[in-house]
Amino acid sequence: MKARVYPDYEAMSVAVAYVVAGKLEEEPSSVLMLPTGITPLGVYGRLVEMHRSEGLSFANATFFNLDEYLGLTPDHRASYHVYMQEHFYGLINADPARVFVPDGATPDPEAECERYEAAIREAGEIDVCVLGIGRNGHIGFNEPGAPFDSRTRVVELSESTRKINASDFEADRAPERAITVGMATIFDSKSVLLLASGTNKAGAVAATVEDDVSESMPASMLRNHPNAVLFLDEAAASDLGHGVAG
Ligand code: GLP
Repeated sequence: MKARVYPDYEAMSVAVAYVVAGKLEEEPSSVLMLPTGITPLGVYGRLVEMHRSEGLSFANATFFNLDEYLGLTPDHRASYHVYMQEHFYGLINADPARVFVPDGATPDPEAECERYEAAIREAGEIDVCVLGIGRNGHIGFNEPGAPFDSRTRVVELSESTRKINASDFEADRAPERAITVGMATIFDSKSVLLLASGTNKAGAVAATVEDDVSESMPASMLRNHPNAVLFLDEAAASDLGHGVAG
């Protein structure tokens, strides 16, 4: 897996935005898979700017989100539906018919997972999958131990993830479960951009790059991917030893 290290968060975000924009310019009907969290905000901001000032169009693209909390309605302020609307989909010319976020409020989560996985299949391959990384190495909501052959499914969130995400929720209590796109679904993407920023990600980044490929460190799966690139700022790269491509 190639790693690109940028001086700071802004530079990293701009670089990722250029990759995504370049893909869209080359193939306007690209299929993108997208993350939430703090890390991708700079990328979304930059893409929105490119849309507004340079006319970058998203009208023919298809978007899939990686995950959603189970039990949250799409209008819950901590839902990923609201996050994506506020930070990205609501600010560009995305076609609502081609925007997919798992329905966390579904009465039948298993059926929703099947529906979601089928929608991904129907869209064809994911052209670009953008990922953040959890401090424990999770990607999407695939927590340590997630099988590499897993598909979209309901998962239990780890205590540590719930703690980190707790401040988004009343009484500091994050939901216990989520729907996430699976590891194999992510792996099937033609290209993967894994983003990490800040010293609190440095340990997970080092483990991803330098330890064994193992289900206990989900992001390490991407080392076997033919076209996965790690985008880091210097802080996130600070625990890496030698041998990382610049
Ligand atoms: C969240 C999301 C992930 C995200 C990760 C890191 O729980 N489910 O998709 O990549 O945690 O988030 P952040 O970028 O805020 O550190």
